Amino acid sequence: MKLPPVIAIDGPTASGKGTVASLVAEKLGFHYLDSGALYRLVALASEKQGTDLQNASELGILAKRLVISFKNGQILLNSENVTQAIRDENIGLRASVIAVHPEVRQALVGVQHGFRLVPGLVADGRDMASVIFPDAVLKIFLTATAQARAERRYKQLIAKGIPAKLDDLLHDLQERDARDSSRGTAPLLVADGAKVLETSELSIDQAVKTVLDWYQSKTA
Ligand code: DC
Repeated sequence: MKLPPVIAIDGPTASGKGTVASLVAEKLGFHYLDSGALYRLVALASEKQGTDLQNASELGILAKRLVISFKNGQILLNSENVTQAIRDENIGLRASVIAVHPEVRQALVGVQHGFRLVPGLVADGRDMASVIFPDAVLKIFLTATAQARAERRYKQLIAKGIPAKLDDLLHDLQERDARDSSRGTAPLLVADGAKVLETSELSIDQAVKTVLDWYQSKTA
């Protein structure tokens, strides 16, 4: 049986891949997987439970047992609405730390595959093209310079009324890039056959159009 098509979009933090991926999914009428949200959910649950960040086996068990639901853009963890809570910068950093453990990554494979439904899926993360959906019809590595990404994140936070310092954001983001890229299991990388989309000088609309054009040329 032929599985529904997947567009895999990987890239570093604050590259805009989530925004681009969800808009592409909307245009195509496809499902959307924000895999980073799953790691953030494990990070939040582990914080609530007081689990040590280095306790890989306990974190793996916790990840397996999470009761999560995604409904109308809202994310529930054990029926609590955590849509905003998982976006906290500290939870992002914590997610990057727990994501190095193979036990955690393995526990989240099944739930990610579960998003692959007709008519298709757009999935964003770090290892969508390399590990989770290696047969993706289109693989994209979406990136921007660290400076451009820090400035985008800064503007988002200020617009939400959250105080932020550009230098601190740049430093955190570079720390996270280094950890995500250097870990032994499923590191952030340009997968074999992936197209690189550099968005420092592109608007969101231009990035979305490029992805849609590439998808069309793959399926024509
Ligand atoms: O995309 P994000 O910023 O929400 O992801 C948060 C962290 O989760 C990221 O720093 C590393 C981890 N992550 C991962 O290891 N693999 C994925 N497919 C997605 C996220």
